Amino acid sequence: MNPLDIISNYYVPGSEAYHILVTHSRSVADKALAIAAMHPELQIDTRFVEEAAMLHDIGIFLCDAPGIACYGAYPYICHGYLGADLLRKEGLERHALVCERHTGTGLSLAMIEKEGLPLPHRDMLPVSIEEQLICFADKFYSKTKLGVEKPVKKIKKSLLKYGSETEERFDRWCKLFLGD
Ligand SMILES: [Fe+2]
Repeated sequence: MNPLDIISNYYVPGSEAYHILVTHSRSVADKALAIAAMHPELQIDTRFVEEAAMLHDIGIFLCDAPGIACYGAYPYICHGYLGADLLRKEGLERHALVCERHTGTGLSLAMIEKEGLPLPHRDMLPVSIEEQLICFADKFYSKTKLGVEKPVKKIKKSLLKYGSETEERFDRWCKLFLGD
C-alpha cells in the first residue's frame, strides 16, 4: 500500500493542504522510524509505522483550520476520529486506530466526558507500541513550522494544559523511546 495514493483520494497533489500534510507526516514517520531503529528489543512493525505515520492526520481537511489550509466544518480536535472513519472505509482498521488515538498523548473516555469534547465517547488512548510511537513522534512536529523539530522541553510545556495524565504518559514515553 502506498499512503500517498490514499492521501491523493482526498487532497489535490500540489495544493497547500497536501504539502502541509505530507511534509508533516513525513517528518513524523522519519522520527518514528529513527526511534524504532534504536530499539530492536521492542520489535516494532516498521512497515506499518511508516504507513500509519503518513496517514495519521488524513482527517485534517474536514476541519476548520484555515492556518493550515483546511476549510472543513468540524473543530480541529475531531481530525483524529474523522481520519479514522476515512481509513475504515478504505479497509485500513489498524491504521484507523492510529488516527483516532494520536491527539495529545491520547484521550481517555473520562477526559472526553469531563472536558465535554465533541468526540465519540470511547477511549482514544494509544495501545499498541506502534500507536504509542507515532503519537509520541507526532509531538515533535507542528504543521505550521514544517520540518522544525521541537525540543522535549517545549513539548512538555505545551502538554501542561492537558493535565497530569497527559504529562505522565509523555514522560513514560521519553524514558521508553529516548532513554531519559
Ligand atoms: Fe500529526
